[in-house]
Parts: sequence; structure tokens; C-alpha cells
Amino acid sequence: MKRILVTGAGGQIGSWLVPALRSQYGDAKVLATDIRQVSPEMAEAGPFQVLDATDVRAVGQAVMRHRADTVFHLAAILSAVGERDPRLAWHVNMSSLEAVLEVAREQGCAVFTPSSIGVFGPGTPKNPTPQDTIMRPTTMYGITKVAGELLCDYYHHRFGVDTRGVRFPGLISYGQPPGGGTTDWAVEIYYRAVQHGRYRCFVGPDTQLDMMYMPDAVRAAIGVMEADPARLVHRNAFNVTAMQLTPEMMAAEIRKHIPGFIIEYEVDPVRQAIADSWPDRIDDSAARQEWDWEPAFDLERMTADMLKHLNQG
Ligand code: NAD
Ligand code: SER
Repeated sequence: MKRILVTGAGGQIGSWLVPALRSQYGDAKVLATDIRQVSPEMAEAGPFQVLDATDVRAVGQAVMRHRADTVFHLAAILSAVGERDPRLAWHVNMSSLEAVLEVAREQGCAVFTPSSIGVFGPGTPKNPTPQDTIMRPTTMYGITKVAGELLCDYYHHRFGVDTRGVRFPGLISYGQPPGGGTTDWAVEIYYRAVQHGRYRCFVGPDTQLDMMYMPDAVRAAIGVMEADPARLVHRNAFNVTAMQLTPEMMAAEIRKHIPGFIIEYEVDPVRQAIADSWPDRIDDSAARQEWDWEPAFDLERMTADMLKHLNQG
């Protein structure tokens, strides 16, 4: 990776990944793009361009002008927004991926595409969920992610495009808020704890999902792209996880820092059903074996770091 283009750079992951890529590969080497304006910090620290990732011609021109050899394709519609507007989710997620892969085929780029625990469904073994298993999701988001994994594999086998990806769990971070996913409660809980000392959670107290702190997610994205291709048995996409959390577990950890913190529940049936269809614990041993994946943050370390930064902000 020498010259990189990032789509959807203004979102939750991009707002962390772009600065990390710029510090590792050079500010001028990383072109941040998004369909909307991004933060002034991102736009001023290196090249930025407004780009609709579903527009194959515009993506092709941006890759050519920047002489990009790698695309991190983050533009997408997430699970909860996708259930509100399934056609939008299908259009954005599939058209943008197809555009990026076509441009990568024509111009010889490598492509990172984040998949998700959303590829799994009620028929998948829940604990542990193997790397290779049943993928019959019940959300439009999950359907686009399964189709996306297959399309990335196809472009690798058929055209030799260096496609790689990970199945991210719910990602927790400060800064740019999450873009409308089912796991957003695990971010909101920290903000409300600091701002109001209480949080009304939209999934039930024992809803367990895989989660990861954003610094680990950034390391996973860069790590899989830097991995020795000779070691890769899988490509699209590796299970990766760091911890398995319920709202009750997170509330108990937050109370160690904010003793009076109160959590209440007002379950949203749509997002609860999505969460219930996803695994309790994914098995990420393939990522550990094939490219030495290992997370650094557990619940204790993440909570201390999140609260420190939110209290500073
Ligand atoms: P996000 O919603 O925060 O950001 C997505 C960005 O894409 C936004 O800035 C949006 O403006 C942009 N975008 C939307 N449509 C676009 C288009 N047509 N062209 C260009 N940009 C467009 O999402 P995120 O959390 O940063 O997720 C990035 C990727 O990671 C997605 O593929 C998502 O499915 C995946 N992922 C995220 C999580 C998570 O917990 N955040 C977990 C698993 C997988
Ligand atoms: N955090 C994402 C979502 O909830 C998982 O892919 O949509």
C-alpha cells in the first residue's frame, strides 16, 4: 500500500482510519472521499474530494488522478437505517462495491471491504460462530454483506483483484457518531453516562453481541491489508472480535467510574430482532492463524479510555 483512496471517509470508521493511514503512509498519499463534506480536520490534513461511490466513472477518475493502488471501501448504509429503507441499502451497498471492484480490476488496485456480523442469521450457530458457516441473514444489510463477500471473492478468483475484508462486530468509539446500526447502543451508553448519568437502552439487558474498540478495528483493517498473501486461506471476510458484551455488563463497568449510573430499557422490537439474529460470540481463530490478529482492548481498558476522552471533550 503506497497510495490509498478511502470511500465513506467521514463516517465512524473513516474518521479514525484516515488519520491512522495518513500517519503511517503519509498525509498526501491518502485521499479521503465521501458523498458529503467531512470534518475540517480531515479535509485540511490531506487530500479530500466529494465522491459518490456508486458512480463508477467518478470513482475511476478519482483512483486514476490520485494514482491509488489500494481502496478502503467504507461507504455503506448500516443495519438499522437499512431496515427503514431496504432499497437504499441495496442500491448504495451493492452499486458502490461493484463500482469499486470494477475500477480496481481496470486499474490494478487492492480493495479492503468491511463485512459484518450482520452476515449471520438465526440459523447460524451462535456460540461460537465458525469462520465458515451458514449465512442466511434476515436484514437487507446482511444480505448486501453476504453478496458483497461473494462478489469480492469472485473478483479475486476471476480477475486476480487483491480483495480482502473482515467481519467487524459492533464498533465502539468517540468522535464521529455511528451511522445508524443495531450496535449503536454500545456507543450511546458512554455518551449518556457522561452527559446525563443515565441511559435508556433500545435492546434488552442480556442481549449479547461481539464488540470491538475502534483502535483495534483500525489495526485489523490495516493488518489484513498488510498480511502476507501466501498465508491467506480466507480473504472475504475474516471473523474478528475483541469482546462479548451485554448492556448489563457495560453498565456495571461504567458504574466503576460513575457510581450512580442508571440504565433503563425501552426495547425497540426492530433492532432487538436484528440483534437476536446475530451471534453471541464469533470465532476469530482464522484471522489469528492467517495474519496474527489480536485485539488490545477489553471492556475494562476500553471503558477507562472512552470515559477519559469523553470527559475531556
Ligand atoms: P457510517 O455510516 O458511519 O459511515 C458511512 C459513510 O459512508 C458516511 O460518511 C456516508 O456519508 C458515506 N456514504 C454513504 N453513501 C455514500 C455514497 N453513495 N458514496 C460515498 N459515501 C457514501 O459507517 P461506518 O460505521 O463508518 O461503516 C463503514 C463500513 O464498515 C460499512 O461498510 C459498514 O457496514 C462496516 N461496518 C461497520 C460497523 C460498525 O459498527 N461501525 C460494524 C461492521 C461493519
Ligand atoms: N454495527 C453494525 C450495525 O449494527 C454491524 O455491522 O449495523
